[in-house]
Amino acid sequence: MSIRHIFFSFLLFTALSADAGYAQDIFTIHYPPDRIIKEDGLLGVSFSLTKGTAEKVVVRVNNRSIKEFGTIDRVNCFSVDLKPGYNTIEFVALKDNSLINKVTRDVFLRSDLIGAYRKPPPDYRRDSFHSGKRELCAECHQLEPTEADRKPVNMTALSDGGPEDDRSQKTSTCYSCHKGIMSYPFVHGPAAVWSCLSCHEENSTPRYAVAKPDTEVCFKCHLNQKKLWLNKKYKHGPVTLGKCTICHSPHAAKNAFNLYKRTWDLCVNCHFEMGSGRHILGDSFSQGGHPTKERDDPLRKGRELTCASCHDPHASDFPHLWAYDVENLFELCQKCHQKKMN
Ligand code: HEC
Ligand code: HEC
Ligand code: HEC
Ligand code: HEC
Ligand code: HEC
Ligand code: HEC
Ligand code: HEC
Ligand code: HEC
Repeated sequence: MSIRHIFFSFLLFTALSADAGYAQDIFTIHYPPDRIIKEDGLLGVSFSLTKGTAEKVVVRVNNRSIKEFGTIDRVNCFSVDLKPGYNTIEFVALKDNSLINKVTRDVFLRSDLIGAYRKPPPDYRRDSFHSGKRELCAECHQLEPTEADRKPVNMTALSDGGPEDDRSQKTSTCYSCHKGIMSYPFVHGPAAVWSCLSCHEENSTPRYAVAKPDTEVCFKCHLNQKKLWLNKKYKHGPVTLGKCTICHSPHAAKNAFNLYKRTWDLCVNCHFEMGSGRHILGDSFSQGGHPTKERDDPLRKGRELTCASCHDPHASDFPHLWAYDVENLFELCQKCHQKKMN
């Protein structure tokens, strides 16, 4: 490598690593501001660029290019998927294929399931997009909800399906900016029909806040579960705290029951010692311990054996949150091993 090559690599390196010091600010990032905390993994982004300054804009999230703008509009909108913890969004402007400007935004996605990311860092703050004045956005988007968004919602109306076109993405004013929020295979009843205001309060401060703890919101509709679970003798730790959304996404998720992880992984996430294969049966009984996955559940046709085959994730009248009405350990074993043990 010649001295010239080294010199140019150095220039490129400093250009990519430097954050400030460009001749002019050509980017206006409408959203997000720097160092904000989010609770949900999908983030709406919007930016503008001084006309005639760049030919191309590349957006990188956590060092991966996720979007390229060949033609740059007056206002450019898109969404990015965040990972739990720290995320960096870079807006890179190019002219003649060289970098002429770069702006970054750091966003923290809080997560109850990852110890290190449970508490947001002190130098990050919460931001409420909807509590701000958004005149520019309102030029193209309907920002105030309409009557269609406000229709009262209850379990019966939702379970019965209601008239087909009564409530949907077509009538929701939230859809144009939040359309990506439902792009997972398992969607939650009220979110699936874009009844966003059944949980988000229109006139709260900050705007669209959700009541806490989660049970305040969830038990408004899940009355059967409320009656059933609150009367049980033992409640699961997170349920006692009212934290339903530690495990369930209120919107949509990759896993059945809108769970953030598959049941086994979810349980082992907090009860990591139970994932070792040594659960229930000691060395004397069985080398590997009792299976807790990758077998058929004898009591639930078509479902896999998992932690929830023996434990109720919410509440139970029996010790260790057993999922069945059994008085002791032996009766529990018999539920599945009747023939063998008789
Ligand atoms: C000049 C018109 C215009 C303005 C002004 C505008 N938008 Fe958009 N926005 C659009 C259009 C058109 C779409 C739909 C794009 C599509 O369907 O891919 C959109 C989509 C979006 C999306 C969803 C993107 C996605 O793919 O998930 C978000 C988020 C968004 N806008 C946010 C904003 C915000 C925030 C503002 C104000 C700072 C704003 N928009 C201002 C035209 C505009
Ligand atoms: C102009 C586009 C736009 C429209 C329309 C819109 N939102 Fe948003 N919303 C955003 C952006 C941008 C954010 C901040 C980034 C993010 O969370 O994706 C946001 C954030 C939120 C938040 C988090 C709290 C906050 O204020 O930052 C909630 C809750 C929310 N929106 C609900 C709704 C609901 C409910 C509707 C419909 C009644 C709606 N939004 C309509 C763009 C929009
Ligand atoms: C079943 C109740 C429920 C419904 C229905 C619902 N949400 Fe949410 N949403 C929540 C909860 C709970 C949170 C987490 C808020 C928190 O912990 O601060 C949340 C968070 C959000 C956030 C992110 C806030 C952040 O800080 O990152 C956005 C954006 C959002 N919801 C938009 C929507 C939209 C759009 C709809 C309609 C499709 C919708 N929600 C429907 C309960 C709901
Ligand atoms: C506005 C009413 C409403 C609210 C509020 C609500 N739900 Fe639901 N939920 C429904 C409906 C409707 C269904 C689908 C009907 C059914 O299968 O029970 C459902 C289904 C579910 C399911 C089962 C999904 C499945 O695959 O069987 C879970 C889990 C769930 N909700 C959790 C929650 C949690 C957690 C909250 C609070 C953050 C909540 N719900 C708040 C109406 C609601
Ligand atoms: C520790 C994780 C966890 C927490 C916390 C949790 N759930 Fe669940 N939930 C699950 C799992 C796992 C399933 C699926 C159980 C199965 O496989 O049978 C489920 C199933 C459900 C179902 C559908 C089946 C049923 O039993 O009715 C609903 C509704 C539900 N949960 C609502 C809630 C509500 C409301 C809360 C808060 C009070 C909550 N969950 C808290 C893990 C959790
Ligand atoms: C967010 C963390 C978290 C998740 C996820 C979680 N748990 Fe728990 N679990 C707790 C806490 C906290 C307690 C109460 C403290 C204790 O007794 O250890 C508890 C207690 C229990 C107990 C009672 C222990 C006893 O001796 O009575 C059982 C059984 C249990 N969990 C099973 C599960 C199952 C099954 C799952 C998956 C569906 C699960 N847990 C997911 C946090 C969690
Ligand atoms: C085949 C039934 C069965 C399965 C599957 C099962 N458990 Fe258990 N679990 C039990 C029984 C029985 C006990 C009580 C053991 C005792 O009293 O010695 C127990 C006890 C527990 C306890 C409390 C006792 C302790 O040692 O702290 C927790 C927490 C727990 N299980 C979590 C889990 C998790 C997490 C999974 C999935 C990885 C799981 N269990 C799968 C039957 C089961
Ligand atoms: C929810 C159903 C269920 C319950 C409850 C249950 N088991 Fe099992 N058990 C199974 C399944 C499924 C297998 C795997 C069978 C197979 O692979 O053919 C199994 C396997 C076993 C094995 C063989 C282990 C090996 O290494 O292959 C023993 C021993 C056993 N169980 C004992 C118990 C005892 C003791 C209890 C009560 C503490 C119990 N089981 C409760 C479903 C259950």
